[in-house]
Amino acid sequence: MRTLVIIPTFNESANLELIVNRVHTCQPGVDILVADDGSPDGTGDIADRLAVDPRVHVLHRESKQGLGSAYRAGFAWGLDRGYDVLVEMDADGSHLPEELERLLSTSAAGADLVLGSRWVPGGGVVNWPWHRRMISRGGTLYARIMLGIHVRDATGGYRAFRRATLERLPLDEVASQGYCFQIDMARRVLAEGMSIVEVPITFVERERGESKMSGAIVREALWRVTVWGLARLVPRSLRRDRTPHSTSV
Ligand code: GDD
Ligand code: MN
Repeated sequence: MRTLVIIPTFNESANLELIVNRVHTCQPGVDILVADDGSPDGTGDIADRLAVDPRVHVLHRESKQGLGSAYRAGFAWGLDRGYDVLVEMDADGSHLPEELERLLSTSAAGADLVLGSRWVPGGGVVNWPWHRRMISRGGTLYARIMLGIHVRDATGGYRAFRRATLERLPLDEVASQGYCFQIDMARRVLAEGMSIVEVPITFVERERGESKMSGAIVREALWRVTVWGLARLVPRSLRRDRTPHSTSV
């Protein structure tokens, strides 16, 4: 199994080297792709320096285009190069490389998408302020109700996709830019009849650098989930029918 750990970065100069080394200490056999969005703090240069290790690769993009867009580019890069498993991981140490083994073994056992979950028994968060807990739990609850998806942690960003899972999804059509990319991918996996298995993780809030979470990211998630949910919940008969064959006489 060839595994690629994709690490999106924006201004993670204080974290990148630590996380890359930690991943390779825990899992020497995996490759890493740093997807940097032209970080002004020089994260991209650090990534280039780390890439003297042949297991480390770098994807430079010119400007900050969002987490979802960075992952889409990273997936395309990894699929092109034949990786079997593609992992999402934050750069700031919140996703413990020590727990990667659990995601990889669950993926190898056949889960189409393995979701590192904070809100299942054995999972949790360390040092997260109450408002972040509320957004995370509230976001998952809203997604569950609107989208009918039965996952406990819909927004979590520590995940392992099998290659075949990504190949079945129309990645070019995924428009989510921010963290709602995670919800978007989960709903698409389930809509295709594929499986999601949640494994407990401990999410540790970053100690260095700053979160990129913003009001705009929350608003994007809210409106997208609402639109997807209404499309699912409002009966077809109440919607304007645009299919050409169904004009009434
Ligand atoms: N390339 C790129 N472009 N990377 C980005 C961008 C972007 O526009 N925005 C964020 N990142 C990177 C960060 O540098 C970091 O490595 C990772 O994405 C996560 O960003 P954080 O800013 O640390 O996110 P968080 O800790 O607030 O949020 C975490 O929890 C969310 C809610 O559960 C993440 O795990 C999210 O994925 C998750 O949705
Ligand atoms: Mn973080």
